[in-house]
Amino acid sequence: MTDQAHAYPGEYRSAPTAYAALSEYLENHPDHQLHHPHPFDVSRSDIYLEDRWQPIFAEMRAMGPLHYVDESPFRPHWNVVSHKAIAHVEALPDLFSSSWEYGGITILDRAEDVAPEEAFELPMFIAMDRPEHTAQRRTVSPAFTPTEMKRLEESIRRRTGALLDSLPISEQFDWVEKVSIELTTQMLAILFGFPWQDRHLLTYWSDWAGDTELATVRELDKLRQDILREMGSYFGQLWSDRAKGEQGKDLISMMIRSDSMNHMSPQEFIGNLVLLIVGGNDTTRNTMSGIVHAFHEFPEQRIAFENDSSLIPNAVQECIRYQTPLAHMRRTATEDTELFGKKIAKGDKLVLWYLSANRDEEVFENPDQLDIRRENARRHLAFGYGIHRCVGARLAELQLRVLLEEMHKRRLHANVTGKVERTRANFVHGFRKLEVELKRF
Ligand code: HEM
Repeated sequence: MTDQAHAYPGEYRSAPTAYAALSEYLENHPDHQLHHPHPFDVSRSDIYLEDRWQPIFAEMRAMGPLHYVDESPFRPHWNVVSHKAIAHVEALPDLFSSSWEYGGITILDRAEDVAPEEAFELPMFIAMDRPEHTAQRRTVSPAFTPTEMKRLEESIRRRTGALLDSLPISEQFDWVEKVSIELTTQMLAILFGFPWQDRHLLTYWSDWAGDTELATVRELDKLRQDILREMGSYFGQLWSDRAKGEQGKDLISMMIRSDSMNHMSPQEFIGNLVLLIVGGNDTTRNTMSGIVHAFHEFPEQRIAFENDSSLIPNAVQECIRYQTPLAHMRRTATEDTELFGKKIAKGDKLVLWYLSANRDEEVFENPDQLDIRRENARRHLAFGYGIHRCVGARLAELQLRVLLEEMHKRRLHANVTGKVERTRANFVHGFRKLEVELKRF
């Protein structure tokens, strides 16, 4: 295939993430145009951009938990759509692998035209299987215990309050930019003990495809790798400064003191930090935007929250369920097997659609309704399930709870008054823009 065939038209340059840019490219590439697109091919990112994915998944769930899509820009794959089937697959991590070697964790495979010797991949435990996964995860999980969360709460609350106090009242602004991105960046900077003045690098590093001059998939991949190297060298410096100097209670100091560090290469250390930044960023950000948008769609739920602050912890769970900021994770079968009556071959790609599990009517009554009193909201699968279940879940919950509590304390609510732009992607499920005005209730 020529480079010409891989050219990106200009409009793709504004794609919010590399992932989105690459998937959009694949979806629109002439080689991938299907004459008869599969009716259940939910890899098409326009259905998320236009927020019309719900009936397609509902139809699939009504017909069964697994559906094979034989032709797709993302190659053939299984859609796993019920709550029960997704939990089942995730409970068998040896049979259904997360490892890069089998294909990794998203429906998107690695760019094919990047030569292996040019590929710069950092090892990250989200894309590892046991026993490596267990050992690596252990090095960061002490930073997310309930005791650690208590310790972080004070600074997260102080920063959240200060940000809310700086916002204009009765004047339109973009909630995504001023609140969701800023608070998430601050949360990660607090977790890492990251130099405060450089904290915006954390956002840049995970959103890097923004305005770059991308011409080919190859260039896109090269840029991704340059960013990884830049992050690597920044964290390497931070690590050595902190190892020599005074250590605090932040995650990096904690890792330096941890016994397991003796068994970790510098690459693995940096890979794990990068994973935490990328894993915590879009997800928490999009839930913060999702809460405001969901309260706009269901004003009676917003009023219930305003009248009773004791509903906040459950409202956080329900808003995470309703938004589901990561639409899917992927697994690959390591053996031939059978799953809910379907024959799965070794090497088959299984896409676990959390968006669908969290709207599964077998588990959640009226799943398309936001209900902050929902008794089983906590059963959502937005954080995944099993050995890879999100390690940062408590931190995300803490940040979201503090945001709602501090808004409640100030009697603030955000009315959606302007543009709402969703993300064009089949992985990150969220908002690029959400124009609001703040009012007092
Ligand atoms: C893994 C979602 C916030 C770090 C995951 C997974 C999901 C997820 C779906 C994969 C689970 C699986 O494969 O079973 C979310 C959501 C968040 C959030 C919805 C916010 C609402 C965070 C935060 C951090 C973080 C704040 C850290 C600062 C990670 C890491 C993993 C992970 C390191 C890999 C865990 C492993 O493989 O063992 N997250 N996440 N996440 N998340 Fe999160």
